[in-house]
Amino acid sequence: MMERADALEYLAGFALDPALLGEVLSAGRQHTIFRYGEAQVLKLPNKSLYMKIYGAFTYEVVHRDVELLRRYAPRYLAPTEVLHGNHNADDYIVVQDYYPAARFVSGHEFPRVRDQFAEIVAANHALIHQHSLSIDFFGNQSFRTSLLAAVTGQPGSALLNNVVLVEDDAGKPQLRIIDVNLSELRLGFRADDSLPRWLIDNGLFALTRWMIWRLFGIEVR
Ligand SMILES: Nc1ncnc2c1ncn2[C@@H]1O[C@H](COP(=O)(O)OP(=O)(O)O)[C@@H](O)[C@H]1O
Ligand SMILES: [Mg+2]
Repeated sequence: MMERADALEYLAGFALDPALLGEVLSAGRQHTIFRYGEAQVLKLPNKSLYMKIYGAFTYEVVHRDVELLRRYAPRYLAPTEVLHGNHNADDYIVVQDYYPAARFVSGHEFPRVRDQFAEIVAANHALIHQHSLSIDFFGNQSFRTSLLAAVTGQPGSALLNNVVLVEDDAGKPQLRIIDVNLSELRLGFRADDSLPRWLIDNGLFALTRWMIWRLFGIEVR
């Protein structure tokens, strides 16, 4: 979690208006999410011990992840920009459209978006095989719940929170990828590589793959 004072200080390195910094929506493991004006959110990198060990993300890597998602999953990526800090070359802020009505996708609702999810998994196949990177499907907030759902064979209680459900103007469900940080499946690939990150990402990816198969019957290859 990034405190508001620290957030305002960090913001000074960017062409953003501090007056538009709103409430905290989520204090995630990797980022603190603030509302920004009416229609956007800002994702500021946490400076926690966890992130120190995991390996802090840099502008270069986050920017590349977003460009890859734009290329491979254009229909599903939430409108996202990565801003570059003026004070430090590694600093970044992710600016994204705000989805006030976004819902995490529960196993109960999953059948409504199954085809879309399968399309995201297909796009992810190309990411894995061409870039050794993968979308992080579950997200930290619901990982344990979903793992438990998979272990006990209760797909209804699974929850996806990095890929969320929004309704379009006609009330049709749409999936949107909101967590843009890709998991690193091969060591020595990224500019800001770290051994702990690779270990964590690989372990979580192996579990994720099994969970998606168990819960939804979809094969992540
Ligand atoms: N564009 C958005 N609109 C509304 N809520 C969001 C948006 N992006 C993130 N959030 C909220 O913040 C949480 C964490 O966001 P995420 O990008 O996954 O951060 P982290 O990198 O810390 O996992 C989400 O689960 C959601 O509740
Ligand atoms: Mg997340």
